[in-house]
Amino acid sequence: MPAYDNPLVAELETVRTQALGELDTMSDLTDLDAWRIQYLGRRGALTQVMRGIGQLPPQQRPEVGQVSNDVKAILEAAFDNRVDVLKQKRLATTLAQEQLDVTLPGFPVSLGRLHPTTQILREITGIFADMGFQVYDSREVESDLYNFELLNIPPYHPARDMWDTFYINERVVLRTHTSPGQIRAMQAFHPDPIRVILPGMCYRYEQVTSRHEMMFTQVEGLAVGENITMADLKGVLENFARRLFGDNRRMRFRCSHFPFTEPSVEVDMDCFLCNGEGTGCSICKESGWLEILGAGMVHPQVLRNGGYDPAVYSGFAFGMGPERITMLKYGIDDIRLFFSNDLRFLEQFS
Ligand code: FA5
Repeated sequence: MPAYDNPLVAELETVRTQALGELDTMSDLTDLDAWRIQYLGRRGALTQVMRGIGQLPPQQRPEVGQVSNDVKAILEAAFDNRVDVLKQKRLATTLAQEQLDVTLPGFPVSLGRLHPTTQILREITGIFADMGFQVYDSREVESDLYNFELLNIPPYHPARDMWDTFYINERVVLRTHTSPGQIRAMQAFHPDPIRVILPGMCYRYEQVTSRHEMMFTQVEGLAVGENITMADLKGVLENFARRLFGDNRRMRFRCSHFPFTEPSVEVDMDCFLCNGEGTGCSICKESGWLEILGAGMVHPQVLRNGGYDPAVYSGFAFGMGPERITMLKYGIDDIRLFFSNDLRFLEQFS
């Protein structure tokens, strides 16, 4: 009997037509999987028909076997093709839905700016650089020896109360001022002449108020050499104040005491709020003046501690508070604003 007369071949033909017909109408990938199981699965229609081949007389088997393999290959190819078509369709739909609307407003980009303390530090550094001062970096975590003792403040000295700080342990502290950097700079440079400024953070056990922070910046200044006098100190500080505050502001030197300078002074600027009048002013406590720095001629013992012979060398030093100076320059009435991270304050310093 020729193969095309064989009932199995007729069955294979029916399976092929039916399967291809159904496949054409399918639009869902999950339906396709069900189709695959129904026709090509281990218990699917094609396998069922192929099982009958074993019952045929041996001479008919090769031909019917060939037909069944052809049908299987046709169905598998049609299945793969349909999967591709449906996947492409799905991709096209997704892309169409996801199209970019370039007319939508974007996210605003916020620009950072320099903190007011950084700005004033750069200004101060620039002014002193013009007078020949270099920046010398010193450590924030200091030993008791450098923070106090080498600056003529032995244990139990009353000045320790004013400069009390945070202790890491009995011998290691967070520095209360930038003055320990004076000793470190002298020890590094002696016997050469020195002209340095030392900017950096300081820490104090402080009752925080509108003018006192427990963490603030200082800029120390130090000049050591032969024949340096108090007149040099005065000239440098007056030039600095004129450059920073302008020609119209008044400055005064007032006698003071620091254990590491002799003689010592404190320097005040006239109050920005009351123009130096004082009357009823809460910022300057009615004095008309605001202190910006302490200064003096380096004490002979401190020169010795730094490696200089006080019979040959002399020097001046000063220590100022940049936050206080910024307050004075821009009329800021509360020092706590500097570290409270309030953008309304910070954004005013562009
Ligand atoms: C000193 O710290 C000395 N080391 C300064 C000095 C250096 C004197 C070299 C002589 C020679 P005083 O404690 O006064 O001094 O502080 C100096 C400046 O730091 C003050 O004028 C003020 O501007 C600033 N300052 C001090 N304490 C605070 C604080 N709690 N908050 C903000 N600024 C402060």
